[in-house]
Amino acid sequence: MQSIETTPLHAAAPQTATLPDTIRPETTLPAADVRSHPLLAAIGHTPLIELTRVGDLPGGVRLLAKAEFMNPGGSIKDRAAAEMVADGIDRGLLTVPSPGQAPAEVPTIIDATSGNTGIAFAMIGASLGIPVTLVMPENTSPERKATMRHLGATVIDTVPAEDGSDGAFEMVREIVAANPGRYFYPDQYDNPANTRAHEWGTGAEIWQQSGGTVTHFVASMGTSGTLMGTSRRLKRENSSVRSIAVQPDSPLHGIEGTKHMASTIRPSILDDSIIDEVVVVSTARAYETTRRLALREGLFCGISSGANTAAALDVARRAEPGSVIVTVLPDTGSRYLSDHFWEAR
Ligand SMILES: Cc1ncc(COP(=O)(O)O)c(C=O)c1O
Repeated sequence: MQSIETTPLHAAAPQTATLPDTIRPETTLPAADVRSHPLLAAIGHTPLIELTRVGDLPGGVRLLAKAEFMNPGGSIKDRAAAEMVADGIDRGLLTVPSPGQAPAEVPTIIDATSGNTGIAFAMIGASLGIPVTLVMPENTSPERKATMRHLGATVIDTVPAEDGSDGAFEMVREIVAANPGRYFYPDQYDNPANTRAHEWGTGAEIWQQSGGTVTHFVASMGTSGTLMGTSRRLKRENSSVRSIAVQPDSPLHGIEGTKHMASTIRPSILDDSIIDEVVVVSTARAYETTRRLALREGLFCGISSGANTAAALDVARRAEPGSVIVTVLPDTGSRYLSDHFWEAR
């Protein structure tokens, strides 16, 4: 069988000086920059889709949604995970194993996440050969645990359900403290690389894809990386762009991936001064709008996509003609297949 030769990530940069001008690249990414790895380079560049049937819009107001469920790992968190891994490599805290080096000889990415960030780390770790350990409560959905395991991650799901995500964070801290050199803990709630992924990626893409017409950006908050980074970029392009945060209506809500900020620990990357307005959405309305996205727009997304779209429709209803409201559809509906809300009519 013929073997296919691949270029190792850390191979020396090709000698381009000898190439004829017609094919010499104008700029060359450093060969050691992991951001040029084929899988990481496939993250982002998602379509910006106009929504016309999910709800009523006043004349002259447009609603556009960034289809983040089309990322290779099925969610917007691919962007943040990729940038946090690349940043860890830049800072010398994480290494890509060289050919022939066993994965056990390089630091392991560790995190307490049962959701999209965990799946993104597992996917990126698999493609770069970096080991990944994910700690989560025992009641995490079997589909998610299986996805992470099938991507090669070590899943520790022994945190008692009653200890929840706080218990998982505690266990990660203990594991890292017991063996500090062995692990890279990106801590997405306090990691500026999370925000940066959206400043360089999501925000820049929305500005370009909307032809500079965006007037409002609407997004829910988990770590707040999406809202902070994207808003920062859009406001830098046009300071009158309004940044609107979506919040669940109670601490016990079903909008997975999002946080009720008033009742939880604040991420240190959250900067209130960037937010112009907060729109509150109930779980029931998020469910209903998620179903409408599927049935009326053909967009099969998760619950936070429904919450974001419901809030964007509220903003649109009181917006001036000429407004262009942009929101994000953070993940795929297939992550919630076994949820019962799909059945309600
Ligand atoms: C489904 C979903 N929606 C929204 C968010 C919020 O994104 P961010 O962490 O960038 O605030 C997340 C974060 O994990 C998520 O998984």
